[in-house]
Amino acid sequence: MTRSIRPLVAGNWKMNGLKADLAIAAEVARGYDAALKQAVDLAICPPATLLFATSAALIGARIATGGQDCSTQPAGAFTGEISAGMVADAGATFCIVGHSERRTLHGESNATVKAKAEAAHQAMLVPIVCVGETKEEREAGKALAVVKKQLRGSVPEGSTPETLVVAYEPVWAIGTGLTPTAADVAEMHAAIRAELARLLGKAPAAAIRLLYGGSVKPSNAAELMNVANVDGALVGGASLKSEEFLAIARACQS
Ligand code: 13P
Repeated sequence: MTRSIRPLVAGNWKMNGLKADLAIAAEVARGYDAALKQAVDLAICPPATLLFATSAALIGARIATGGQDCSTQPAGAFTGEISAGMVADAGATFCIVGHSERRTLHGESNATVKAKAEAAHQAMLVPIVCVGETKEEREAGKALAVVKKQLRGSVPEGSTPETLVVAYEPVWAIGTGLTPTAADVAEMHAAIRAELARLLGKAPAAAIRLLYGGSVKPSNAAELMNVANVDGALVGGASLKSEEFLAIARACQS
């Protein structure tokens, strides 16, 4: 954790969730007690079909919502796409961009991710820009170089702590139960902050929230959240279980 930064724990539901699963969001809201509210920000990023209803359900609980992706384009003949303006209109504060599943399965380049982050800014959304190396890249000793290159290519110029969240998600840790060592996370998050300082200036970079994502669970959250320069988590699978999501949030309390 960075003492001066208010942590953020965001749940990425991915392509999971039907109307009945709004109950998960309601349970999270019930568990977000005064002590937790004082210590940590929460966000839920449900599938687009549930974004409006989730936002409406969470307003009173002071839990934010986010989209999982947005178009680079503001409007028009782009069948199936969802604009950042639509994500904002559905009540979201955040929008995940450049998740590794989009980079890999949809061939999104750094330039595309940057255009999406800029579209999010146009819509007054805070992009959660995801970066992370593959297993092969880590084994080849290229993890730091890969992530720095992703940051240089994906982060919009002029981003500030109010308009940017970065999530480090090693691809090999997503949904696998594997996590990097605390030392590896510390090395990467320090490198991310240093690269952001080069791109955006030292003062803004020092206050930007850097989330760790990839197999975060209640059992490993305390260790991961205690790493220097880790200012919260981007949680996949465990965010679909309200008690697990809340337990991860509580790991940011101390
Ligand atoms: P898991 O927590 O399921 O590993 O997913 C991480 C992730 O991809 C969040 O965006």
